[in-house]
Amino acid sequence: MSKLLTVLLLLAASWPALSDEITYAKHIRPVWDEQCERCHGSSSPDYATFMKNPKQYELDDKGPRMDSYAAMVFFIKAPEEAGAMMRRLDDGSNTKDGQPGNMYRHLGRKDARKENLELFKKWIGEDAWIMKKTAEYTQEDLQRIKAKE
Ligand code: HEC
Repeated sequence: MSKLLTVLLLLAASWPALSDEITYAKHIRPVWDEQCERCHGSSSPDYATFMKNPKQYELDDKGPRMDSYAAMVFFIKAPEEAGAMMRRLDDGSNTKDGQPGNMYRHLGRKDARKENLELFKKWIGEDAWIMKKTAEYTQEDLQRIKAKE
């Protein structure tokens, strides 16, 4: 294998944000395991159960369960929660009041936080990264969402 090709392959592997093929399995799940699992993992209540008593679960540092692709995508494009992921993870550069979403800080420390945010953005799609409320979502907004499995 040529040196150039090796370098290119290494670059592509270490910088997934460069490629268009961001997938849940390859790129998002490892970040989720590291940063989100402890509060959204299998010991957390499913969404319906969580919604019956959110305050109680919050006190326990438990958010709604998101431990599969389907459970994760629910917070991206389901009618009940479309856009929640984007609103919660934004660093404040797209929100109306300039404040970051309250899950942004869980994306990691310093540079890792920025890189992980970029990863989520690329995964969902740059033009699908909007701060609309769920009720304001249109069919067109939903169609822009990539979020590949
Ligand atoms: C320390 C615990 C903790 C960590 C770590 C954490 N979360 Fe959360 N998360 C919560 C709690 C508690 C809630 C529910 C309270 C609220 O809505 O703020 C929540 C709510 C959310 C919601 C909104 C759910 C809804 O009902 O609309 C999303 C989306 C979310 N988290 C994504 C993430 C992602 C992605 C990560 C990892 C980068 C993460 N969270 C890491 C505790 C956590």
